[in-house]
Order: sequence, then structure tokens, then C-alpha cells
Amino acid sequence: MNDIVKFGIIGAGAVWRFHKLGANNHPITRFVSAYDINEKKLKNVAKYSKLEPYSNLDDFFKSDIDAVLILVPHYLHKDMVVAAAEAGKHILCEKPMAPTLEECDKMIAATKKAGVKFMIAENHRFLPAHQFIKDALDKGFIGDVFLGRTYEGAYAISQFFNPVDWSFTYDKGGGGVVADQGVHKFTMLNWFLGEVDSAQCWLSKALNSPSNKGEDTAIVLLHYKCGAIITVDISSSTVHPLTNRTELHGTKGTILEDHSWENPVQIFSSHPDAEVKGEFYSPSVAVEHGPFPDYYKISMGYEDAYFAECILKDKKPEFTPEEAKKGVAVVLLSYLSAKNGRMTSMEELMKIYKKEGTKSILEGLEAVTQKNHVNLKWE
Ligand SMILES: NC(=O)c1ccc[n+]([C@@H]2O[C@H](COP(=O)([O-])OP(=O)(O)OC[C@H]3O[C@@H](n4cnc5c(N)ncnc54)[C@H](O)[C@@H]3O)[C@@H](O)[C@H]2O)c1
Repeated sequence: MNDIVKFGIIGAGAVWRFHKLGANNHPITRFVSAYDINEKKLKNVAKYSKLEPYSNLDDFFKSDIDAVLILVPHYLHKDMVVAAAEAGKHILCEKPMAPTLEECDKMIAATKKAGVKFMIAENHRFLPAHQFIKDALDKGFIGDVFLGRTYEGAYAISQFFNPVDWSFTYDKGGGGVVADQGVHKFTMLNWFLGEVDSAQCWLSKALNSPSNKGEDTAIVLLHYKCGAIITVDISSSTVHPLTNRTELHGTKGTILEDHSWENPVQIFSSHPDAEVKGEFYSPSVAVEHGPFPDYYKISMGYEDAYFAECILKDKKPEFTPEEAKKGVAVVLLSYLSAKNGRMTSMEELMKIYKKEGTKSILEGLEAVTQKNHVNLKWE
């Protein structure tokens, strides 16, 4: 049996660099070729990443690769996944799975029909700090979670002010920060807490970005079926290096996590196995971590190597496309709630999904996004 998986990348843009850095620590993952419609990016990736460049998709699929890593704008995820499945390649595709639930369904159907492995590259599922929290929750360190909050903040103003960049656009990105960044938080929280029952969302523009760009700032309140209530704060106009924070409170204690800390997790726990009683402590076995960009490199390295291992050992990836689709459902539920101007249930979203389809939810979001930039001085 081979001990490496040969990947070709589709899309040689910004995120590729983190996958490349991540692979340095995981020799099981070998990136060998690239396809992109942008000749300049293709030339660069061939030169600096030593990948065989392809400007024709069919030729790329015929090259000596076992799997593809899809790194293109969100509106293209479905078509690329379907094409790769039909070409018989295993598929790892960047988050969010797709802008709509119908596209997710087509991706699942095509990959099942082709019998290829398929996983969404949700790096927050592979970050050691998040894996640590998941294990602590499963072991009952903080008991039953009833309250929490989570935050992702970035400063992406160049993408927001560039109208031809697809990022955060309604038509190519599937919305602003809720779709782009919120999906990380929703997928992580679903993993920790189960399924969402209802949501309430506010959308805001702190930046005076073009009208094709979605919200740069949002708050989503989530009510989980287990009863936990969680605040999700997301922004790409916050003035600090990219970071994430999560705080979960349960009947036996609290977990704090901050990606900007060198040691990212602290626990307060009355569990008998807690290492320290009566005060917050960091686990004595260090959790592999580093503030941005290190946590990207670490999590993507593990994610890509895990997918390669699933191929080599013929295992079904634990993070299923159906779970990734549930993250997209929370994105759409948030947008639906913003349009409704009230708390909205998952049941209401599912009715729309069955009746007219979820694409309709992405229409008219600009009108319900608060233009808060009129109150702000950025100079
Ligand atoms: N996991 C994370 O934390 C993280 C971080 C950043 C981006 N991402 C995701 O990665 C994906 C790509 O984002 P990015 O920031 O690299 O975008 P990008 O705009 O920098 O790169 C996209 C690339 O796709 C290429 N492309 C566009 N249309 C194409 C087509 N039809 N065929 C082939 N190539 C095409 C572009 O030329 C470009 O090189 C998105 O899904 C994004 O959400 C994830």
C-alpha cells in the first residue's frame, strides 16, 4: 500500500499557502499539481510551490493525482466537486460547503455515486485546542453546557473595498461574514453541542463597502436543542490580527479558549479528574498551538493529513458532508432570521428548503443590513 496521497489543488489563491505550510509537517500529504484559471497565479504556484501547472481541467484530472483540494470561491464549490467526483478523484473542499442546501445535496449525491471520499476542509474541526475542548466536554469536565459565546474577528478591509474580489459578495460568496467566518463557529458549536433549534441574527456594515458586499459584522444568538444558549460574534472589520475566542459554561465548570494565547485553553472544573481545583488552570500536557498564522498551519496540516489517512486506510471521514451541510443550514437560518427580524426556528428554514429552495434566502439581505458606517469615523 502507498504511504502518501498525491493531491492536486484547484485554485491557487490566498488559502493555499496555509495548506502548503501545514503539509510540511505531514509527509503523508503530497501536493503535486495545480489548476487555476488565472495564468499568473498558476505560474507563481508552479515556481514557488513546485506544483505541475494545468490550465485545462480535464488534463489536470488525467494527471497522476489521487485526490483534489478545492480552493475556489464558494459559488464554484458545487460544480468543482461534481466534476472531480465524475473524474473519480477523492475530494477535500474548503468551507463553507456551498451557499445553499441544494448545492450541498448535489455534492453529496455526486460523491456517493462516484464512490469517492469527500470531506469539507473545516480546519476548526482539526485544531488541537478544539479537539481538547471536545474531549473535555465528552469526559464531563464542565458538565452540561447551558451558556456560551464565541468570536472570530479579522481585519479584511482590502477584500471588502475591492468590488471585483469575490470574497464576502452576495452572488459569489453566498453572503458576508456569517457565511464566510460564521460557518467555522457554527460547525464547531454543532460538534460540541448537537443541533440548533432556533436563531436570531443582526447584520451590520461597519465599513462603507460596495453594495455587492455583504455584512462585515454580525451577532447570532443560537438556541441549541440541548437547551444551551450561545452568542456568536463575527467581524472582519475588527482592528487586530485574526483571532478566535470561545467560552463555554456548564454545570461543573467553565472552559475558556483564545487563539491569541500561546497556551490556548483554560479550565475551571469541579470534576474529580481536574488537574487543579478551585482555580482556572491550563492543561499540563501542552495543546499544540500558536497565534495566527500558526493555528491555520497546524489545523490545516492535521485536516489534510487526516483526509489522506482516510484514503489510505479506506476509512469514512468522521467529519461527514452531512455535518458540514448542517453548518451551512445555520448560516441560512441566521440570514433568514435577519430578514424576518425575529427569532426563527430551524423548522421554518426546513419548510423553505422543501418548498421554494434556500437560494431565495440569500436575496434581499442588503436591505436588512444595518449601515452602521454612517456613525463611525475610520480616518
Ligand atoms: N479554512 C480557512 O480558515 C480559510 C481561510 C481562507 C479561505 N478559505 C476558503 O478557501 C477558499 C478559497 O479562498 P481564498 O481566500 O484562497 O480565495 P482567493 O480568491 O485568494 O483564491 C481563489 C482562487 O480560485 C481561482 N479560481 C477562480 N475561479 C476559478 C475557476 N473557475 N477555476 C479554477 N480556479 C478558479 C482564482 O484564480 C484564485 O486563484 C474559499 O472557500 C474560502 O472560504 C478558508
